[in-house]
Amino acid sequence: MSKRQSLVAANWKMNSNLASMKPLVDAIKAGLVDNNDVDVAICAPSLYLPELEQRLAGTGIAVGAQNVSEHEAGAFTGEISTTMLNDFNCHFVIAGHSERRSMYAENDELVADKFAQIQSAAMVPILCVGELLSEREAGLTEEVVARQLDAVLSKSGVAAFSQAVIAYEPVWAIGTGKTASKEQAQEVHEFIRQRLAQQDSTIAAGIRILYGGSVKADNAKELFSMTDVDGGLIGGASLKANDFLAICRAAR
Ligand code: PGA
Repeated sequence: MSKRQSLVAANWKMNSNLASMKPLVDAIKAGLVDNNDVDVAICAPSLYLPELEQRLAGTGIAVGAQNVSEHEAGAFTGEISTTMLNDFNCHFVIAGHSERRSMYAENDELVADKFAQIQSAAMVPILCVGELLSEREAGLTEEVVARQLDAVLSKSGVAAFSQAVIAYEPVWAIGTGKTASKEQAQEVHEFIRQRLAQQDSTIAAGIRILYGGSVKADNAKELFSMTDVDGGLIGGASLKANDFLAICRAAR
């Protein structure tokens, strides 16, 4: 099988506003005219999805959300449902980002519930997994990543991964300027793919596994050159059009 088409997804986190997102999105659009080689998505704060949907219409750049409720509807004050995201042509939804896991107490089961809810609404989850620095230093990287993956596998089954993206994001590399080396990234990406292959080799071969954690214009190319790295989930560098565009080009 030829290498999977790369995906570069921006994760704006809780940054930008209407005034700053407009020129950012327009510059990204302009820089990606005639791009057919790389899939690109922007995961914005939910409040801005209507604006994003309008601005991205007809460009081939996909709309994404950063989080969603695990419930379908009901008395969940302050939450946003998959039905609501569907109103704005949202294609991807991030599930289990480490900031949600650590600051909003999202455990493996909750992340698995969100993953299932996203798929039941016909959207594509970007499932984030990754170890803390202390876990890596204790030699627990594979154990942690396997546990995070297995929670979703046991709830949704391996077939669900034919309509999903995985992002390996070592927590110690997120927003710290410390990137995993290309070898470190490849090692874990290969482990993830092999774990899925134990259950279904076709799905394992087809799924895109993104790397995330301080991806920059100057390290993207070497990370993306690795066999099992199929693009990136980009935080800080996605807030500057030129940096983000350079990362998209590096994924070609
Ligand atoms: P970063 O964030 O690129 O700023 O490290 C990546 C992420 O958290 O998705």
